[in-house]
Amino acid sequence: MKYNFILIIALVGVLAAELVVAQNCGCSADLCCSKYGYCGNTSDYCGTGCQEGPCYVSPNNGVVVGDIVTDDFFNGIINQADASCVGKSFYTRSAFLDATSSYSQFGTVGYVDDSKREIAAFFAHVTHETGHFCYIEEIDGASKDYCDETNTQYPCVSGKNYYGRGPLQLSWNYNYGAAGDSIGFDGLNNPDIVASDVNISFKTALWYWMNHCHEIIVSGEGFGETIRAINGALECDGGNTNAVNARVEYYTEYCSELGVDPGSNLYC
Ligand SMILES: *[C@@H]1O[C@H](CO)[C@@H](O)[C@H](O)[C@H]1NC(C)=O
Ligand SMILES: *[C@@H]1O[C@H](CO)[C@@H](O)[C@H](O)[C@H]1NC(C)=O
Repeated sequence: MKYNFILIIALVGVLAAELVVAQNCGCSADLCCSKYGYCGNTSDYCGTGCQEGPCYVSPNNGVVVGDIVTDDFFNGIINQADASCVGKSFYTRSAFLDATSSYSQFGTVGYVDDSKREIAAFFAHVTHETGHFCYIEEIDGASKDYCDETNTQYPCVSGKNYYGRGPLQLSWNYNYGAAGDSIGFDGLNNPDIVASDVNISFKTALWYWMNHCHEIIVSGEGFGETIRAINGALECDGGNTNAVNARVEYYTEYCSELGVDPGSNLYC
């Protein structure tokens, strides 16, 4: 009996704790419940620890990425690549979807419209970087030097070249090293695997995206800041207006296809 009593006390305690949380949250649908149980829509509320509402990270908003990236959507891009393109027999929708299972926050947090914008933005950059999935490797990549010798954590391996490969053209020793550590391949010794294993290839693109672009989209900073995060040093602030315009054009096109407003701050 004594033990039952203790159990009941414990249960009451748990229920009371849940009630306190519920009282403090219950925000209107457009607000986040912060880790401390207050309602708001800035990163203090929607960022780390967010419990409810349009949080930047979990909980998941119920979007199934494959329902948005349909065969028609994916083929609408890759079918524009010339038949002679090497990427045409490499990139597949199913490898993309498999890769998303390692990045469960991709296209599934924030408002449903944020998810559509995120997917449109990701594929806009991929379209630009690969020429509608035509290229796997950077044109003339081998003639370029992507070794940052000041990076001691991921030192370049002699004879290896860290030029652009894959859907977002992963580049530089430090990105190959870090992506490899995170995904599980030897990026410094074997960068070529990003151009030969389509699963790893899509994972490197999503790895880069989740580390550099995801929060930009779901916090509403605008597509332009994702351009900055991907190739800002060369393109933003007048660096390459044509490239910026091309990315924005793909983005607005995909947003319209997915029936979502592209938002503001499209350029950089
Ligand atoms: C955030 O909330 C304020 C007022 O609470 C509102 O004016 C603003 O439009 C909201 N911003 C977004 C992105 O919902
Ligand atoms: C990619 O992953 C799928 C599903 O897990 C698997 O069937 C396929 O063999 C993998 N492809 C490569 C190149 O490893």
